This record gives sequence, structure tokens and C-alpha cells, in this order.
Amino acid sequence: MALRTLDHLEARGKRVLLRADLNMPVQDGRITDTTRIDRLAPTIRELSDKGARVIVCSHFERPKGKPNPAMSLRPMAEALAAALGRPVVFAETCVGEPARAVVAGLRDGEVCLLENTRFHPGEEENESEFAAALALHADAYVNDAFSAAHRAHASTEGVARHLPAYAGRLMQAELEALALALTHPERPVCAIVGGSKVSTKIDLLNNLMARVQVLVIGGAMANTFLAAQGVRVGRSLQEHSLHDLAREILAGAQDSGCEVVLPVDAVTAQEFRPQAPIRTVPIAEVPDGSMILDVGPDTVAALERRLADFRTLVWNGPLGAFETPPFDAATTRLAHAVARATQGGRLRSVAGGGDTVAALRHAGVLDQLTYVSAAGGAFLEWLEGKTLPGVAVLDS
Ligand code: 3PG
Ligand code: MG
Repeated sequence: MALRTLDHLEARGKRVLLRADLNMPVQDGRITDTTRIDRLAPTIRELSDKGARVIVCSHFERPKGKPNPAMSLRPMAEALAAALGRPVVFAETCVGEPARAVVAGLRDGEVCLLENTRFHPGEEENESEFAAALALHADAYVNDAFSAAHRAHASTEGVARHLPAYAGRLMQAELEALALALTHPERPVCAIVGGSKVSTKIDLLNNLMARVQVLVIGGAMANTFLAAQGVRVGRSLQEHSLHDLAREILAGAQDSGCEVVLPVDAVTAQEFRPQAPIRTVPIAEVPDGSMILDVGPDTVAALERRLADFRTLVWNGPLGAFETPPFDAATTRLAHAVARATQGGRLRSVAGGGDTVAALRHAGVLDQLTYVSAAGGAFLEWLEGKTLPGVAVLDS
């Protein structure tokens, strides 16, 4: 696709409506992970430096079309100002007054933040009048919210029908990284898919197997595949009703010439709790009544060795129950290996999804992959091969 970016926007003196994703985790009024703001800041700074009047909008959580003080974006104005090192004026609405008054008061280079777009039902309904009301604030629209681009909402999609639309730098970086990983990657490409459920990743597995040469399946979802092939997995988490589907997926992979790699050994325990006593066993010897909670060291060692053969790696989903040590061992070890191969210049690595980002942070290698997407659902839908509505409208 041909993306219109900030390079195509004559920003000086323009009022620019910037769709950000400020939907960040907040605990006791404090943002616990500022990744999204940190990555958004360069786009705002660039627009502001070029003399645009920057009108930032975003959703926050799911207020279901009604104002809700607990889901106000007000605290984000301060966080945004801190990240930018310049003031950010807050507007108590996103359309009509007082938003209009705040926007009217902006001078070139100044920044304001509008209240949560999801306080209005028109946002999620992608209502044309609501999109038009948002568009009224601005001369141009910049979408820098890749992580919300799977939503066809007024502020992510509809408004682009009312204003000239451009991709922000973060949107651009996400799309470029994803294109390198799957659209026109250097081969061979390996995908690692983990997490707990096959049911949530059917489309993803089907799309990936058509595009990658090697598909590694880990996490509890591997148990379903193993059990479907007659491996005894004890009390492990699995989806009993999906054995047929799992076999179909494996057959489909074989037809596509995609090699599927399943665990050859496992870390098991009788109880799922921190520091539970473990037994590491070959996959055919999972003790009755126990649970597989991580892939075993032989599986990771084999993967580690094979990393040298791959040119591109796409990673979504942890290999084990990484939030509960010692079941983080395989994921952390693999993360280090991927980081080393990437830093060595041999491998292009792209990872994404909430758990995956948390696991990479836990392993201390978040900044050592080629690209780590800050998106959750949007990253998954992109891996499923879906067209993201918020991206489609930026195609020139
Ligand atoms: C996210 O956090 O994944 C995005 O901001 C989308 O949020 P949503 O799932 O509430 O639409
Ligand atoms: Mg979400």
C-alpha cells in the first residue's frame, strides 16, 4: 500500500487532529506502562515543531458511549506534557464546546488533548455526524494509533472521510515493521505462536502457515495439538473440543509446506503456583495428573540452534506460564536467544501482543528485537491477514 505520511503534510499553521492510543494501563491513577505515550511523542513533537496546532484525541477503556469520570483522559494530559516537555491544554469534551473553544485558543506549535472519544455513542457506532463534528476542529487528520486501527470507529476510520488523512510516525513504523516481517520478508521465516487457546488463534495459524516456512507452537495451545495426536497431557490446560480442528490445522500446514514444530519435552507440576516442585520430562512421559506449564529445555535448545537458519522471526505469545516462575524459563531463554541473534545482525525479529511484550520486558530484551509492536488486538488481526479499517483509510 502507498501510505500518506507526515512527509506529505504541509503542517505549518494547520490544525491537525491526531488520533493517538492513550488507552494505557492505569493503577490508582498512575500509568503503569507509558510505552504508548513514549512512542507517540515524536509524532506530536514533529508536528508541533513544524508549526501545526496539534489536537490529540483518543479513547480510554470502554465507557460504552457515556461520560464516566473514572475514564477521563485528563490525567493523560499531564503525562503527555511530561513526555513532550511542553504544555498540553486539556479540553473537557471532544466535540462541541468546550473542545471548540480550546482548539480556537491554540497557536501554531501548541498542543491540546480532547476528552475520551468513547464518551459518545457515535464513536464506536462510527456515526457520520460524530465524525464530522470531530473533523470540524481540524484541517488535516493524522492517525498514529495502529493499536486501535482494528476498530472501525469514528476517530479511527470515519473522520478520514472528512479530512485529508495521513499516517503518523508510530503508525508508519508499525506498518513498515510488519511488512518486513510478513508481507515481503527475507526467508526463511519462522513464526512462534504461544498463548493459552487455539480457539482465539485459528485465523492467525491458518494465515501464518501460508506465509512462513516454520511454525513453532508453544504455550498451553500446544497441549491441544499434542493431545489431538494422542499424546497424554495429564491435567494440562487444553481445548478438548478442538482436537479435530487441531488435526485439520496440522494437515493444512503440511499441504502448505509449512513445518510445524511442537514441544518435545515439558516442564510439569502437580500444582500451578509460584516455585511449585517441577518435573521435566520428554513429551511422551507427562506424569498422570500433572500439568504442562512450560516447554522443556530440549525444545528451547533445538529452537535456539535453529534460529541461525532463519532470516525473519515473528513472535506472538509466550511458551509457558511466564508470569509464574519457574514457568518463565523457556520464554526468557528464547527471548535472550532471539535478542542475541537480532543484535548479531543475522535475524530480523518482530514481536507483539500484550503478553509477549510483558514477557520480553520480563526477560529484559524489549529493546533488543528489531521491532516490538505496542499493539494487542490490532497486531493479532494483522497476523490473521485482515485489513485493518484504520489503516485502509490511509491508503492513497
Ligand atoms: C488496545 O488497548 O488494545 C486498544 O486501545 C483497543 O482497545 P479496545 O480493545 O477497547 O478497542
Ligand atoms: Mg484492549
